[in-house]
Amino acid sequence: MTQVSREIRLAARPVGEPKPSDFELAEVEVGEPGPGEVLVKNTWMSVDPYMRGRMTDRPSYVPPFQIGQPMQGGAIGEVVASNAPELATGTSVQHMLGWREYAILPADGAIPVDTSAGPPQAFLGVLGMPGLTAYVGLLDKAELRDGDVVFVSGAAGAVGSLVGQIAKVRGHTVVGSAGSPGKVAFLKDELGFDAAFDYHDGSVYDQLRAAAPDGIDVYFDNVGGEHLEAAIAAMNPFGRIALCGAISQYNATEAPPGIRNLALAVGKRLTLRGFIVSDDAARMPDFLRDVGGWLREGKIHYRETVVEGIERAPEAFIGLLDGRNTGKMLVKLA
Ligand SMILES: NC(=O)c1ccc[n+]([C@@H]2O[C@H](COP(=O)([O-])OP(=O)(O)OC[C@H]3O[C@@H](n4cnc5c(N)ncnc54)[C@H](OP(=O)(O)O)[C@@H]3O)[C@@H](O)[C@H]2O)c1
Repeated sequence: MTQVSREIRLAARPVGEPKPSDFELAEVEVGEPGPGEVLVKNTWMSVDPYMRGRMTDRPSYVPPFQIGQPMQGGAIGEVVASNAPELATGTSVQHMLGWREYAILPADGAIPVDTSAGPPQAFLGVLGMPGLTAYVGLLDKAELRDGDVVFVSGAAGAVGSLVGQIAKVRGHTVVGSAGSPGKVAFLKDELGFDAAFDYHDGSVYDQLRAAAPDGIDVYFDNVGGEHLEAAIAAMNPFGRIALCGAISQYNATEAPPGIRNLALAVGKRLTLRGFIVSDDAARMPDFLRDVGGWLREGKIHYRETVVEGIERAPEAFIGLLDGRNTGKMLVKLA
């Protein structure tokens, strides 16, 4: 029997915020896996902010999506047919052919997931790429040191919520910013942040200063723009900034204004360091040991916002950029 799979293709390159018409739902017939390949039935797929960059045709660290072609991204699924001896049917795997219900791929591109460590979809969030981003960004790039006061933006999201919790496990004072009163309550009441504020409520700098009157030593930047300026202004000497993302600018249609107070980095002897998590895959075992352990011990918590059905994947992605998620935004396919 021929298997039919639905997939989401890029229909048009978005200008500003992506719209439903920038995506197209299509049906394809899936063949049999060739030698060394497996057929995977996807059960979960990830939508991530970096995909907005891939919708634009410009050089970057990952190539752009092509119009008329299926989009790609992290996914979890089950091997339903195997033409590779090393990967049996029934194995839960993680791979990069999301945005579709079924995928045929080389067996070495399908990584088995250890479902004793967490539910499969956790490997798209707290135990996956966003989790590793939080871990290496905070510990390696920002070089977290004893006594540091930590500020993280996008704090209620997949990366930010783990950044704050790792810092709390390590005994730090943590301040977070997020985009709604509900998210601020989540940070303070469920995740144990020392302080949190809604960046819509007034100047980021004024709210950060009120939350951290003695200044901050580490800023984990998921947002850029006003948040980055505020953090530079509030930084103590020798502070460190991990430049993880700048989501406030991903839908910009014009060059955003520069960071007006960057010169303060000289006198304060600050370090600002950009990074891309895929460069740090070698840290995966340490990350799984530490974060997996804290998860088992109940020292960290995570939330998921789940949208069901491949046809709603564009809605999930648009919603992610619009702040409709708390914790990891996921699409459930099965
Ligand atoms: N460098 C790397 O290797 C790497 C890897 C993974 C992710 N990242 C970056 O890390 C950041 C977080 O990613 P994630 O996967 O954890 O996403 P996420 O935080 O779970 O979701 C994105 C969040 O961004 C916030 N946001 C949207 N527009 C904003 C704006 N104008 N100002 C402030 N916040 C805004 C929204 O929350 P609010 O309701 O709080 O606004 C939204 O929920 C992104 O910048 C992403 O590009 C980088």
